Amino acid sequence: MTSENFIDLPPLLSARGTITLPGSKSISNRVLLLAALSEGTTEVRDVLLSDDTERMVDGLRALGVKVEPLGDNAYRVTGCGGNFPVKDAELFLGNAGTAFRPLTAALALSGGHYKLSGVARMHERPIGDLVDALRALGANIDYLGNEGFPPLEILPATLSGAARVSVRGDVSSQFLTALLMALPLLDREVTVEVVGELISKPYIEITLAMMARFGVAVQRDGWCSFTVAPGSRYVSPGVMYVEGDASSASYFLAAGAIGGGPVRIEGVGRDSIQGDVRFADALALMGAKIEQGTNWMEARAPQSGRLRAIDLDCNHIPDAAMTLAVAALFAEGVTTLRNIASWRVKETDRIAAMAIELRKVGATVEEGADYICITPPAQIRHAAIDTYDDHRIAMCFSLAAFGAEGMRINNPGCVAKTFPDYFAAFASVTQAVPVIAIDGPSASGKGTVAQRVAAKLGYHFLDSGALYRLLALAAQDDGIALTDEAGLASLAERMEVRFEGEQIWLDGVLVGDELRGEQCAAAASKVASLPMVRAALLNKQHAFRRSPGLVADGRDMASVVFPDAALKIFLTASAEARADRRYKQLKEKGMDANIAALLLDIRLRDERDTQRSVAPLQQAPGASLLDTTALNIEQAVQEVLTSYSAKGFKI
Ligand code: DC
Repeated sequence: MTSENFIDLPPLLSARGTITLPGSKSISNRVLLLAALSEGTTEVRDVLLSDDTERMVDGLRALGVKVEPLGDNAYRVTGCGGNFPVKDAELFLGNAGTAFRPLTAALALSGGHYKLSGVARMHERPIGDLVDALRALGANIDYLGNEGFPPLEILPATLSGAARVSVRGDVSSQFLTALLMALPLLDREVTVEVVGELISKPYIEITLAMMARFGVAVQRDGWCSFTVAPGSRYVSPGVMYVEGDASSASYFLAAGAIGGGPVRIEGVGRDSIQGDVRFADALALMGAKIEQGTNWMEARAPQSGRLRAIDLDCNHIPDAAMTLAVAALFAEGVTTLRNIASWRVKETDRIAAMAIELRKVGATVEEGADYICITPPAQIRHAAIDTYDDHRIAMCFSLAAFGAEGMRINNPGCVAKTFPDYFAAFASVTQAVPVIAIDGPSASGKGTVAQRVAAKLGYHFLDSGALYRLLALAAQDDGIALTDEAGLASLAERMEVRFEGEQIWLDGVLVGDELRGEQCAAAASKVASLPMVRAALLNKQHAFRRSPGLVADGRDMASVVFPDAALKIFLTASAEARADRRYKQLKEKGMDANIAALLLDIRLRDERDTQRSVAPLQQAPGASLLDTTALNIEQAVQEVLTSYSAKGFKI
């Protein structure tokens, strides 16, 4: 269930299936820039199409580089041999660190007048160390906002600066990446010394590997210094295939480890140059069963079914480690992820954000400058997860939907940064708690049928009509008029209902037969026609979806409340048959009844329920019609069960 501002993930039971990963963001943006700086034309295939790569492509085009789309996920880049045709330009680079830092370095060392800016968060992400190193090389760069942060202005300069520069390695490895990729633009030998421990080393491996593919070999002394020889020139390799995104693989592997599996991802594997593939080792430490081939990986849950906590230095997998933080909710024990200081300068302060959101679902979290420590709750609570415009927070918290109550993810659109189709891909390999939706008119017998189907399957049962009836009763108790839409909606949110077998409790009080009376039904029909009331009751209805399954009976179960229901039945009978059934039901209860009056009532209510503008009673698309006029209850139950089993469910 999606709206513009959130996506509701139903509680998930299991995960299995195969995903072909989108291209790696890190590789895509490096290759696009190197292709632009090269001599010759490069076809970049399997490239990631996302916000961040779009920023890079837009930036390159603004610099006069020809970047042509080539059908599916491919571009043809005509290299400019290190000399951007446009010498005066303003670039807006969003929140794409992998575009901002490398373009800053390349433009600073190519001569020209440029302004680079991004979104507000980009202007809070440090760049001072990179700027200092570039200035030492002779570049002329001004800060247009705060010292040490974007936006920047680059001015033409004589680039006859130092032959040795230093850059800090402990803030962002992107500084070193940016410098190294730009150095071949200078006509002299330059050595970069890394000050402080180099974080995220695997990303430097990617940089070196990509530069090598474009003909520039960097000499290095461990992780301390890197030298680019004079006369180094990028030359197009012709065609470049981008690997799948290893960080994105982490969500699916974790889904397999939490939800049984096997979940297989294609696009990265044992031979990958991306450090984040080592996430699979971390998951194995948690007990998951991992298999890998050259370009695929597969994860299953541990034999015992339950993951175990780990204490791990995550410097080598900074992005994928966020996935471990959510997997920790499903692990036995306390998980500690260390050496993750870089989280604080990413799309958002990820340590703070993860701590806040993990606490929302019930975890106990301790955070430090460079670590996070997570104790899982006894039961994961439903929460509305804020995503801070950070794609990885949105994606990793989708895994929390394996908790009993599902999860809401706010602003899910932020996944477009690296994985625009993420939620569809996630849904394709996860199986939600199944729902059988049985809709139909009053007195069609669907309540009884639904209840028996639930009992046969051992599923939970939702009598949604009872919620509208209860609201009508509660309104009467509280003296709220049936026309006071806002008052009724807030009452709907406030009222506490509990179903136990045949018994129903409203605000702690057992409800009697008045709930089933015609007067209550008539009042329920009125409150049910108010859009705010229907919206207010949605969460209460969703909460009934619990493992192992739910049978929900009502009017809009298949269309509005559970549109992803596994089976949708529209159960009806002629008005006469329904009046007759209701008559017998009331008589059995020793209540007064008149068949002609009942028939009239049913006709009137049918009309109101089908004519109303909100959620009118109608057969939902995909629902099968079950006319029970000539069927007894057992036959109707059997029909539903047969349809369910035909869909591949065990009955
Ligand atoms: O199924 P019932 O007779 O208990 O329903 C009482 C009223 O509530 C009826 O007028 C229809 C309305 N209703 C609804 O609009 N949507 C539902 N999902 C369930 C009931």
